[in-house]
Amino acid sequence: MSTSSQSPTSLDPALERDAYDAFLEAYPTYTTTAAIDEVRATEFQRLEDQHLVYLDYTGGGLYPASLITDHAAFLTTHVLGNPHSVNPASALSGSLIERCRAHILTFFNASPDEYAVVFTANASHALKLVGEAYPFEPGDQLLLTFDNHNSVNGIREFDRAHGARTTYVPVTPPDLRVDGARLERLLDELPDRETAGGHHLFAYPAQSNFSGVQHPLEWIALAQARGWDVLLDAAAFVPTNRLDLSRVHPDYVALSFYKMFGHPTGVGCLIAKREALEKLHRPWFSGGTITVASVQGDRHFLADGAAAFEDGTLDYSNIPAVDAGLSFLETVGLDLIHERVRCLTGWLLDTLESLRHGDGAPLVTVFGPLTTERRGATIAFSMHDAAGSVLSHTALETSAAESGIALRTGCFCNPGAGEVALGLSPGELDRCLAASGARMTKDDFGQCLDGGESPGAVRVSLGLASTFADVHTFVLFLRRFLR
Ligand SMILES: Cc1ncc(COP(=O)(O)O)c(C=O)c1O
Repeated sequence: MSTSSQSPTSLDPALERDAYDAFLEAYPTYTTTAAIDEVRATEFQRLEDQHLVYLDYTGGGLYPASLITDHAAFLTTHVLGNPHSVNPASALSGSLIERCRAHILTFFNASPDEYAVVFTANASHALKLVGEAYPFEPGDQLLLTFDNHNSVNGIREFDRAHGARTTYVPVTPPDLRVDGARLERLLDELPDRETAGGHHLFAYPAQSNFSGVQHPLEWIALAQARGWDVLLDAAAFVPTNRLDLSRVHPDYVALSFYKMFGHPTGVGCLIAKREALEKLHRPWFSGGTITVASVQGDRHFLADGAAAFEDGTLDYSNIPAVDAGLSFLETVGLDLIHERVRCLTGWLLDTLESLRHGDGAPLVTVFGPLTTERRGATIAFSMHDAAGSVLSHTALETSAAESGIALRTGCFCNPGAGEVALGLSPGELDRCLAASGARMTKDDFGQCLDGGESPGAVRVSLGLASTFADVHTFVLFLRRFLR
C-alpha cells in the first residue's frame, strides 16, 4: 500500500479552521462540550507531546494524568495491607474497597438492596464467573446475539458441557442490528414460561465493540418477562454512555474500568442482582470465598453475596484508583462526554461517506449504522481502491501507525459481527474450520478463506479525550489513499 510521505498533521491552519467551522455548523452542540478541551489540555497533554492521534478507546480508555499522580501520591503516603484483618493497614484497604464498591453502585444508580458488586480482573473475568456458575442443565438455553465479544461467546462452552442448548440470533447487514421480531420469537420459545422452570440465559452487548450498534436496553425487561435471565455486556457502552440501573434491571452486568478511564488495567466488575448471584453455583472455593472450610471434615461453606465470587486477594492497591476514576468521570460529566463523541462520530461518519475516488467510487464502506442514532463512537469499515478492490487492513494499520495514528484492525474478538459484515457464508466457514486440525492460526484461516490475509476490518473509536483535530487528522490521513 503506497501513500505519500506527507505527515497527516502537516496541515494548513486555515484549512483546519474551515473544516472546524463546517463541523460546528453541522454539530453546533459540540461547543457546549468546550470544558473537555480544557481537560484534554491539562490531563492528556502527553498525546500532543507524543504526536499521537489516539483512536482506540474501545480497545482501552486513556487515563487522565492526575489519576496517576494523585494515586501515586496516595500510595506513597498511606500503608495498605491485605484486607480482612483489623490491623490498621488492612482496615484501610478494606474500607477503601467498600467505599469503591458503594461508589460503583451510585455511579450506575443501582440500589444496594437490589445489586451487589463483585470485583473482577476485567469484563471477561466477570462474564466467566457467570458462565461457569450458571446452573445450566439439559433443557436449558443460552441465547446469544451474533454480535458478541468472544468473552461472551465462550459461555457456550459451559452451556454445552452441561447439555444445554445454545442459540444465536443473527445481525443483518448493512446496519448490523438484530431483527427485533425474530429475537422476540426466540425469547418466546421457552416451553411454558410460567411453569417450565429451568434456567435460561440471554447475553448481549449494550454496545457492539465491532459496529458501535447500541442494542436496545428494552430487551432486558422483554426477556425477563419471558423467563430469561439477562447478562448485559456493558464493556463498550459505559465509557461514553450512562447505564442507569434504576431504569433497566439486568440480572448481570460485566465491565472493565480501564475502558472507562484508562487506569487501573487489572480491575473490572460484575454488578449482579443479589438474587441472581444466589442462583449461581460456584464450581470451586478458594481463599476469600468461604466462611469455613475443613480438610478433615471435607466441607466448605461459601461466604454470602459478592465475597463468594472474589477469589483470593483483591487488587487492593489499585481499587482506590477506580473510586478516583469514577469521580473524574463525574466531574467531567458523562453526558458531556457522550454529546462530544456523538458530534465527532456524526461528522466522521458523514465525512467517511463523502470520500470518493476521482471516478466517484467510494474509498470507505462503513459496517454498521451511518448515523448517530442508536449507535456509539466505534466505527468499523473497509477501504477500497478506485477499482473497488479491498485494501489490506493490516497494511493500513501499519501505515496509520507510521503516521502516529493508533487504530485497530481485524475482527476485534467479535467474530459474529465480523463474519456478517465481511460477507463470510456459513458454508465457507464450515469448509475451512472442518478441514483444520486441532490448531489453526489466523494466517491459515485467511489462506483457507480467500487465499489472503485473515479477514478483518479497520476500527476507529472515540472517547473522553477525543477532539475535532483527532478525527480531522485521521480524515486527512485517509485522503492520501484517494486516486
Ligand atoms: C463489548 C466487549 N465485551 C467484553 C470485552 C472484554 O473486555 P476485557 O478484555 O477487558 O475483559 C471487550 C473488550 O474489548 C468488549 O469490547
